[in-house]
Amino acid sequence: MRITAQTFVQMKGKKPIAMLTAYTCPVARSLEQAGIPILLVGDTVGMVEMGFDSTRHVTIEHMEYHVGAVRRGAPNTHVIGDLPYMTDSHPEIALASARRLMAAGADSVKLEGPKLDVIAELTRHDIPVVGHTGLTPQTAKSFARVGRTDAEAQRIKDEALAIQNAGAFMLVLEHIPYDLARQITAMLNIPVIGIGAGPDCDGQVLVINDALGLGDYWPPFSKQYAHVTKTVHEVARDFSREVESREFPNNIIQLTGSGR
Ligand code: KIV
Ligand code: NA
Repeated sequence: MRITAQTFVQMKGKKPIAMLTAYTCPVARSLEQAGIPILLVGDTVGMVEMGFDSTRHVTIEHMEYHVGAVRRGAPNTHVIGDLPYMTDSHPEIALASARRLMAAGADSVKLEGPKLDVIAELTRHDIPVVGHTGLTPQTAKSFARVGRTDAEAQRIKDEALAIQNAGAFMLVLEHIPYDLARQITAMLNIPVIGIGAGPDCDGQVLVINDALGLGDYWPPFSKQYAHVTKTVHEVARDFSREVESREFPNNIIQLTGSGR
Protein backbone atom coordinates (compact mmCIF):
# COMPACT_ATOMS: atom_id res chain seq x y z
CA MET A 1 0.00 0.00 0.00
CA ARG A 2 1.05 3.57 -0.60
CA ILE A 3 3.07 4.93 2.31
CA THR A 4 1.91 8.38 3.39
CA ALA A 5 4.05 11.42 4.12
CA GLN A 6 3.39 11.06 7.85
CA THR A 7 4.54 7.43 7.85
CA PHE A 8 7.82 8.41 6.20
CA VAL A 9 8.37 10.90 9.03
CA GLN A 10 7.80 8.10 11.55
CA MET A 11 10.35 5.92 9.70
CA LYS A 12 13.14 8.41 10.40
CA GLY A 13 15.99 6.82 12.31
CA LYS A 14 14.50 3.33 11.95
CA LYS A 15 14.91 1.87 8.48
CA PRO A 16 16.91 3.56 5.70
CA ILE A 17 14.68 4.69 2.83
CA ALA A 18 15.55 3.54 -0.71
CA MET A 19 14.23 6.03 -3.27
CA LEU A 20 14.69 5.80 -7.03
CA THR A 21 13.60 8.11 -9.79
CA ALA A 22 11.19 6.72 -12.37
CA TYR A 23 9.86 8.18 -15.60
CA THR A 24 8.12 5.36 -17.45
CA CYS A 25 5.40 2.80 -16.76
CA PRO A 26 7.38 -0.44 -17.22
CA VAL A 27 10.29 0.73 -15.08
CA ALA A 28 7.93 2.00 -12.38
CA ARG A 29 6.18 -1.40 -12.42
CA SER A 30 9.48 -3.22 -11.82
CA LEU A 31 10.47 -0.82 -9.04
CA GLU A 32 7.14 -1.36 -7.29
CA GLN A 33 7.46 -5.13 -7.66
CA ALA A 34 10.95 -4.91 -6.12
CA GLY A 35 9.46 -3.14 -3.09
CA ILE A 36 10.88 0.36 -3.55
CA PRO A 37 8.65 2.39 -1.21
CA ILE A 38 8.97 5.82 -2.85
CA LEU A 39 9.52 6.91 -6.45
CA LEU A 40 10.55 10.36 -7.60
CA VAL A 41 9.41 11.52 -11.00
CA GLY A 42 12.32 13.94 -11.20
CA ASP A 43 12.84 16.75 -13.66
CA THR A 44 16.09 14.89 -14.40
CA VAL A 45 13.81 13.30 -17.02
CA GLY A 46 14.77 16.28 -19.19
CA MET A 47 18.42 15.30 -19.13
CA VAL A 48 18.40 11.50 -18.93
CA GLU A 49 15.37 10.78 -21.14
CA MET A 50 14.81 13.87 -23.30
CA GLY A 51 18.36 14.87 -24.20
CA PHE A 52 18.28 18.42 -22.83
CA ASP A 53 21.47 19.84 -21.31
CA SER A 54 19.61 21.18 -18.26
CA THR A 55 16.48 20.47 -16.23
CA ARG A 56 15.35 24.01 -17.00
CA HIS A 57 13.75 22.90 -20.28
CA VAL A 58 11.25 20.63 -18.52
CA THR A 59 7.63 21.85 -18.44
CA ILE A 60 4.66 21.03 -16.25
CA GLU A 61 3.13 19.19 -19.25
CA HIS A 62 6.21 16.96 -19.49
CA MET A 63 5.92 16.21 -15.78
CA GLU A 64 2.20 15.40 -15.98
CA TYR A 65 2.92 12.92 -18.77
CA HIS A 66 5.63 11.13 -16.77
CA VAL A 67 3.80 11.23 -13.42
CA GLY A 68 0.81 9.61 -15.13
CA ALA A 69 2.97 6.89 -16.68
CA VAL A 70 4.69 6.12 -13.35
CA ARG A 71 1.38 6.08 -11.47
CA ARG A 72 -0.10 3.58 -13.93
CA GLY A 73 2.97 1.36 -13.50
CA ALA A 74 3.16 1.68 -9.71
CA PRO A 75 -0.37 2.12 -8.38
CA ASN A 76 0.59 1.16 -4.82
CA THR A 77 3.77 3.20 -4.36
CA HIS A 78 4.26 6.73 -3.03
CA VAL A 79 5.06 8.93 -6.03
CA ILE A 80 6.69 12.36 -5.72
CA GLY A 81 6.22 14.75 -8.64
CA ASP A 82 9.03 17.24 -9.17
CA LEU A 83 7.92 20.83 -9.80
CA PRO A 84 9.92 21.98 -12.83
CA TYR A 85 11.79 25.24 -13.22
CA MET A 86 9.67 28.39 -12.70
CA THR A 87 6.44 26.47 -11.99
CA ASP A 88 6.95 27.13 -8.26
CA SER A 89 8.10 30.74 -8.45
CA HIS A 90 5.13 32.14 -6.51
CA PRO A 91 2.71 30.48 -4.03
CA GLU A 92 -0.32 30.75 -6.34
CA ILE A 93 1.54 29.50 -9.41
CA ALA A 94 3.05 26.69 -7.35
CA LEU A 95 -0.34 25.65 -5.99
CA ALA A 96 -1.80 25.42 -9.50
CA SER A 97 1.27 23.48 -10.72
CA ALA A 98 1.24 21.12 -7.73
CA ARG A 99 -2.48 20.45 -8.22
CA ARG A 100 -1.76 19.41 -11.82
CA LEU A 101 0.88 16.89 -10.69
CA MET A 102 -1.42 15.59 -7.93
CA ALA A 103 -4.24 15.19 -10.48
CA ALA A 104 -1.81 13.29 -12.74
CA GLY A 105 -1.17 10.82 -9.91
CA ALA A 106 1.43 12.25 -7.50
CA ASP A 107 1.12 11.79 -3.73
CA SER A 108 3.44 14.70 -2.98
CA VAL A 109 5.56 17.26 -4.81
CA LYS A 110 9.21 18.30 -4.56
CA LEU A 111 10.67 21.74 -5.08
CA GLU A 112 14.18 23.19 -4.97
CA GLY A 113 15.46 25.77 -2.52
CA PRO A 114 14.14 27.70 0.47
CA LYS A 115 10.81 28.81 -1.04
CA LEU A 116 9.23 28.93 2.39
CA ASP A 117 6.03 30.74 1.44
CA VAL A 118 5.45 28.21 -1.34
CA ILE A 119 6.03 25.23 0.97
CA ALA A 120 3.65 26.73 3.54
CA GLU A 121 0.97 27.40 0.91
CA LEU A 122 1.10 23.87 -0.51
CA THR A 123 1.01 22.16 2.90
CA ARG A 124 -1.88 24.45 3.95
CA HIS A 125 -3.75 22.98 0.98
CA ASP A 126 -2.89 19.40 2.06
CA ILE A 127 -0.24 18.86 -0.61
CA PRO A 128 2.72 17.09 1.05
CA VAL A 129 6.03 18.72 0.11
CA VAL A 130 9.55 17.33 -0.23
CA GLY A 131 12.27 19.99 0.02
CA HIS A 132 15.60 19.94 -1.83
CA THR A 133 18.76 21.84 -0.94
CA GLY A 134 22.52 21.57 -1.33
CA LEU A 135 23.11 21.45 -5.09
CA THR A 136 19.89 22.63 -6.75
CA PRO A 137 20.25 21.95 -10.49
CA GLN A 138 17.48 24.30 -11.68
CA THR A 139 19.51 27.33 -10.60
CA ALA A 140 23.07 25.97 -10.21
CA LYS A 141 25.81 27.23 -12.51
CA SER A 142 27.75 23.97 -12.24
CA PHE A 143 27.30 20.46 -10.86
CA ALA A 144 30.24 20.83 -8.45
CA ARG A 145 29.82 19.97 -4.77
CA VAL A 146 28.40 22.84 -2.71
CA GLY A 147 28.72 23.69 0.99
CA ARG A 148 32.50 23.46 1.26
CA THR A 149 33.03 26.84 2.90
CA ASP A 150 31.83 27.53 6.46
CA ALA A 151 29.49 30.25 5.20
CA GLU A 152 27.91 28.01 2.56
CA ALA A 153 27.61 25.13 5.00
CA GLN A 154 25.81 27.39 7.46
CA ARG A 155 23.49 28.66 4.71
CA ILE A 156 22.56 25.08 3.74
CA LYS A 157 21.92 24.17 7.39
CA ASP A 158 19.72 27.21 7.87
CA GLU A 159 17.82 26.40 4.67
CA ALA A 160 17.30 22.79 5.71
CA LEU A 161 15.80 23.82 9.05
CA ALA A 162 13.64 26.53 7.47
CA ILE A 163 12.34 24.07 4.84
CA GLN A 164 11.36 21.65 7.63
CA ASN A 165 9.74 24.40 9.67
CA ALA A 166 7.77 25.61 6.64
CA GLY A 167 6.09 22.18 6.55
CA ALA A 168 8.11 19.84 4.33
CA PHE A 169 7.87 16.15 5.34
CA MET A 170 11.14 15.06 3.71
CA LEU A 171 14.31 16.72 2.42
CA VAL A 172 16.64 15.80 -0.43
CA LEU A 173 20.26 16.85 0.09
CA GLU A 174 22.29 16.84 -3.10
CA HIS A 175 26.08 16.79 -3.49
CA ILE A 176 27.28 18.31 -0.22
CA PRO A 177 30.12 17.31 2.14
CA TYR A 178 29.31 14.11 4.02
CA ASP A 179 29.89 15.64 7.44
CA LEU A 180 27.47 18.49 6.68
CA ALA A 181 24.81 15.97 5.56
CA ARG A 182 25.36 13.97 8.76
CA GLN A 183 24.86 17.11 10.88
CA ILE A 184 21.68 18.13 9.03
CA THR A 185 20.27 14.59 9.27
CA ALA A 186 20.83 14.64 13.04
CA MET A 187 19.34 18.13 13.37
CA LEU A 188 16.05 17.53 11.51
CA ASN A 189 12.92 15.60 12.55
CA ILE A 190 12.02 14.76 8.94
CA PRO A 191 13.78 12.10 6.85
CA VAL A 192 16.77 13.33 4.86
CA ILE A 193 17.41 11.56 1.55
CA GLY A 194 20.91 11.99 0.17
CA ILE A 195 22.38 11.93 -3.31
CA GLY A 196 26.13 12.44 -3.30
CA ALA A 197 25.75 13.36 0.37
CA GLY A 198 27.41 10.39 2.06
CA PRO A 199 26.32 7.43 4.18
CA ASP A 200 24.70 9.12 7.18
CA CYS A 201 21.40 10.31 5.66
CA ASP A 202 18.06 8.63 6.45
CA GLY A 203 17.88 7.30 2.91
CA GLN A 204 19.45 7.44 -0.52
CA VAL A 205 18.12 8.35 -3.95
CA LEU A 206 19.59 7.45 -7.32
CA VAL A 207 18.52 8.47 -10.79
CA ILE A 208 17.24 5.18 -12.22
CA ASN A 209 19.09 5.61 -15.52
CA ASP A 210 22.34 6.02 -13.57
CA ALA A 211 21.61 2.86 -11.53
CA LEU A 212 20.74 0.96 -14.74
CA GLY A 213 23.80 2.19 -16.62
CA LEU A 214 21.46 3.63 -19.25
CA GLY A 215 23.06 6.72 -20.73
CA ASP A 216 26.54 7.90 -21.64
CA TYR A 217 27.54 9.83 -18.51
CA TRP A 218 27.10 9.04 -14.84
CA PRO A 219 27.90 11.25 -11.86
CA PRO A 220 30.83 9.95 -9.79
CA PHE A 221 28.62 9.50 -6.71
CA SER A 222 26.21 7.21 -8.58
CA LYS A 223 26.54 3.45 -8.94
CA GLN A 224 25.83 1.35 -12.04
CA TYR A 225 24.12 -1.85 -10.92
CA ALA A 226 23.72 -2.89 -14.57
CA HIS A 227 24.84 -1.80 -18.02
CA VAL A 228 21.62 -1.40 -19.98
CA THR A 229 23.19 0.80 -22.67
CA LYS A 230 25.36 -2.18 -23.59
CA THR A 231 22.34 -4.49 -23.67
CA VAL A 232 20.43 -2.13 -25.99
CA HIS A 233 23.42 -2.01 -28.31
CA GLU A 234 23.69 -5.80 -28.36
CA VAL A 235 19.95 -6.26 -29.02
CA ALA A 236 20.04 -3.82 -31.94
CA ARG A 237 23.15 -5.44 -33.40
CA ASP A 238 21.72 -8.98 -33.09
CA PHE A 239 18.36 -7.94 -34.58
CA SER A 240 20.02 -6.17 -37.48
CA ARG A 241 22.24 -9.17 -38.23
CA GLU A 242 19.26 -11.58 -38.10
CA VAL A 243 17.11 -9.45 -40.42
CA GLU A 244 19.88 -9.13 -42.95
CA SER A 245 20.51 -12.90 -42.87
CA ARG A 246 16.73 -13.62 -42.86
CA GLU A 247 17.12 -15.59 -39.63
CA PHE A 248 14.46 -13.31 -38.10
CA PRO A 249 11.51 -13.79 -38.23
CA ASN A 250 12.03 -17.34 -39.52
CA ASN A 251 13.52 -18.41 -36.19
CA ILE A 252 10.41 -17.39 -34.23
CA ILE A 253 7.92 -18.58 -36.87
CA GLN A 254 9.41 -22.04 -36.51
CA LEU A 255 8.99 -21.82 -32.73
CA THR A 256 5.44 -20.50 -32.61
CA GLY A 257 4.06 -21.94 -35.85
CA SER A 258 2.32 -18.63 -36.49
CA GLY A 259 1.77 -16.96 -39.84
CA ARG A 260 -1.38 -18.70 -40.94
O1 KIV B 1 15.11 15.36 -10.60
C1 KIV B 1 15.68 14.51 -9.88
O2 KIV B 1 15.88 13.35 -10.26
C2 KIV B 1 16.12 14.93 -8.55
C3 KIV B 1 16.99 13.97 -7.79
C4 KIV B 1 18.38 13.97 -8.35
C5 KIV B 1 16.97 14.23 -6.34
O3 KIV B 1 15.78 15.99 -8.13
NA1 NA C 1 14.92 17.44 -9.73
